[in-house]
Amino acid sequence: MSDMNRIKVLPVLLRNKIAAGEVIERPASVVKELVENSIDAGSTRVEISVVGAGRRIIRVSDNGSGMGREDALMAFERYATSKISREEDLERIRSMGFRGEALSSIAAVSKIRLITALAEDETAVGSNGLCVEIVGGETKSEKLCPASGTTIEVKDLFFNTPARRKFLKSDATENSHIIDAVTREALSHFTIGFILRIDGEESMSLAPAASIKERITQVYGKCFVDSLIEISAGDEEFSIHAFLGRVSNVRSNRNGQFVFINSRPVRDQAINHAVYTAYKDLIPKDKHPVFLVYLYVDPEKVDVNVHPAKREVRFEDKTGIYNFILGTAREALRDADMDFLSGATDGERIKGQYMLGSATADNSRRDANDNANGVLTAGRSGGDVAHIAEPSGLPYEVWTPFLYLGETFVAVPEKGGLAIIDYHAAHERVNYERLLIRKDAASHRMLFPQQVRLGPKEYNAVLNNLQLLTDFGIEAEDFGHGTIIVRSLPEVLMAADVNELITDLASCITDDGATSHRQAGPLSDLHESIAARLACHSSMRGRETPDMARVNELLKDLAACDEPDRCPHGRPTRIRISMNELKKMFRK
Ligand SMILES: Nc1ncnc2c1ncn2[C@@H]1O[C@H](COP(=O)(O)OP(=O)(O)OP(=O)(O)O)[C@@H](O)[C@H]1O
Ligand SMILES: [Mg+2]
Repeated sequence: MSDMNRIKVLPVLLRNKIAAGEVIERPASVVKELVENSIDAGSTRVEISVVGAGRRIIRVSDNGSGMGREDALMAFERYATSKISREEDLERIRSMGFRGEALSSIAAVSKIRLITALAEDETAVGSNGLCVEIVGGETKSEKLCPASGTTIEVKDLFFNTPARRKFLKSDATENSHIIDAVTREALSHFTIGFILRIDGEESMSLAPAASIKERITQVYGKCFVDSLIEISAGDEEFSIHAFLGRVSNVRSNRNGQFVFINSRPVRDQAINHAVYTAYKDLIPKDKHPVFLVYLYVDPEKVDVNVHPAKREVRFEDKTGIYNFILGTAREALRDADMDFLSGATDGERIKGQYMLGSATADNSRRDANDNANGVLTAGRSGGDVAHIAEPSGLPYEVWTPFLYLGETFVAVPEKGGLAIIDYHAAHERVNYERLLIRKDAASHRMLFPQQVRLGPKEYNAVLNNLQLLTDFGIEAEDFGHGTIIVRSLPEVLMAADVNELITDLASCITDDGATSHRQAGPLSDLHESIAARLACHSSMRGRETPDMARVNELLKDLAACDEPDRCPHGRPTRIRISMNELKKMFRK
């Protein structure tokens, strides 16, 4: 061969190894591919076990169709599939797999043992099953063994691709991806029973369910499902079955969001955008809705062959689907949350009328006191005019007067100028510093310990981080079956909704939450992120109206903060306008 001929076709094993790089990113990808094969094999029960976060062992067993000898050996060849055979088949995929590359990719980067027997084969559950061992893509041994269904055991993943192995994250993170992968498959295939064991401990155990709703209940608990609005709509071309979180039930990250197209878990920007648009103006801009969207599209009108891990699809009529989802979701939210919307218009109702001191109009005793302390008062009987009561020079502490402007804003006179304070942000700063800097998190035992049901990924994250919670004065224990029990809380959290608090905290601890948070804001470390979340739960909510005592206490606490001008997320807590600036504004 002359030096001119430098281009060579790579050997099959090397080709497969390269292909594996695209399909098999981490242990969770193996779990996903094996579980999807079990689903395609018509199984009603799938058991998954992982050891060492899937690095050492991933074992998936099913009671599906199984394979005969020829197929069992062929299955590990690249482009070997029983699911499509002609070009047209690619236009109407109904199975989870279709490329015939998952098993060859997995085999190229691990040591595999396959045990399988054809379901039709009466004699199979005896000795006629087959056991095949494959190392780095090469068949090492083959023998008869008792079997039913299919078990694939993947050992020492990436043993021959050290670069990929190094790229893997901590066990906790990889396990969390595995739980996530199984959860997504379980949520989209409710008739199948799933068991997931992590290092021998059962992390998920789901009996076959009668409906999607029942499956969601099995995974996340009744409380979660009760907070969802169930909708279904559409025709043959496309239809939707969706569960949308109420507008009062929002999260700080995107953990509670699932999209399935023809029962395939996917990520789809257009669908996400449509759903977010439906929630627009109904939820705060920095919050995320919870949603599970099951979209069914005629398989001829959607291309599933666009992403190496089959995580994305392409629609023929993207705009039609976008508008359909937006319209359906918007209508459902409007109908279901009329009660919330009417509550939210409180702010509207008081618009144009300055609320002062206590915003409760019937609190005349408090009004009298406020006046005595030199507070601004407003015309209560529909008047739009504010006037300033004369300070009466009382011998006890004089409270700073404030003017409630609506929403979360109060104005206070300050050093001859004016400060406008976002009392929600200010309260977050105060509690954040209490929790994080002053470690002022002495635990208070709750009179009634509260149980909190979590999703499998969140449950796992909390159990792995109980000490972290204790650091913040939250005493919690495992209560089994996806439930933890909270026994103590720090003072500043005594009034918080424990369920919401723990759910939010759990998603903060899970890697996704922590990373997205880190990218989003200035908080660099998990302790800081958690303190910020806790502070948020402990703070006065936007819809509470502040009273004299609370505002004054807040001003005092804020003044004592290390960084009083910013909330933990970096937004301002107060904006000050000095006398000089005022003069400039009035061109004096
Ligand atoms: N658990 C199983 N039970 C029965 N047959 C299986 C099982 N797993 C794999 N097979 C057979 O092995 C073949 C190859 O599997 P593989 O996952 O590599 O490809 P695929 O599922 O056809 O396509 P894709 O690469 O898109 O997943 C399948 O088409 C199927 O016939
Ligand atoms: Mg497959």
